[in-house]
Amino acid sequence: MRRLVRETRLDPANFILPLFIVAGEGVRRPIGSMPPQCQISVDVAVEECREILALGISGVMLFGVPEEKDEDATGAYDDNGLVQQATRAIKREVPGLLVVTDVCNCEYTSHGHCGKIIDGDVDNDITLGWLTRSAVSHAKAGADIVAPSDMMDGRVAAIRAGLDAGGFSKVPILSYAAKFASVFYGPFREAADSTPQFGDRRSYQMEPGNAREAMKEIALDLEEGADMIMVKPAGPYLDLIRQARDRFTDVPMAGYQVSGEYSMIMAAAERGWIDHDRAMMESLTSIKRAGADFVLTYFAKPAARMLG
Ligand code: PBG
Repeated sequence: MRRLVRETRLDPANFILPLFIVAGEGVRRPIGSMPPQCQISVDVAVEECREILALGISGVMLFGVPEEKDEDATGAYDDNGLVQQATRAIKREVPGLLVVTDVCNCEYTSHGHCGKIIDGDVDNDITLGWLTRSAVSHAKAGADIVAPSDMMDGRVAAIRAGLDAGGFSKVPILSYAAKFASVFYGPFREAADSTPQFGDRRSYQMEPGNAREAMKEIALDLEEGADMIMVKPAGPYLDLIRQARDRFTDVPMAGYQVSGEYSMIMAAAERGWIDHDRAMMESLTSIKRAGADFVLTYFAKPAARMLG
């Protein structure tokens, strides 16, 4: 009877699995704080993607973790960068899988911030140029969707204009529209080696107490041409997923169950303090029930296996 009346159903088709791409071949380097996630080289990513597709998961979100970083994040918009290489390889070898690329600079800057540093702070408008170049270079490599996560003002409009001018008018933008300056990104920063070397991200990411501002950020991104929106993190901000769902009824929306949300469940489960499978399924169901159409989650594979 519960099955009959269940209102919210999980489906692997609504999952996207984030992957961390590193240089080399045959590399599978465990990320300590997010077991059993690994940093993987392009060839390993292709193999992973075959399995991901077979599990019915719709896509992957690619992050590059380069060995060389510099002041100007040149690895982010290099046509031969890690995300670009991985995108080309996955689209060639596993064509049925959606490739979403994270468009940001923090993994590529020596200082770990999301943009150009001028006088100790990120310069919004110079950073827009980097983001546009990255998005175009991802599209050129075959990305199905580009997803800016930097939180600079005006980036959706800038990226849209860049994509259209580059002949990629059909590539949609999934905007990390409401992204909070959250402690729950902690494990990711180990995974992506993107911890800021000074200060924090509060000059560009949102204040956790602000709900009205989140709705404004989403509205602005939609005006600028975002095709899909995201609330991030998901679990601690379910109220905002619901508010956004009620307010922006006709736009696809994602929730990003971020690294800290994942690692907390993994750590508690490892200690036997919580049931892994049930915590995983309940947390994902809640994100969907709140109103997200799809979920970026490190649980994509085990959850898909349970559903399959
Ligand atoms: C920025 C970015 C971050 C995450 C996704 N994109 C980190 C940050 O803003 O510091 C976090 C994702 C996670 O914690 O799983 N490129």
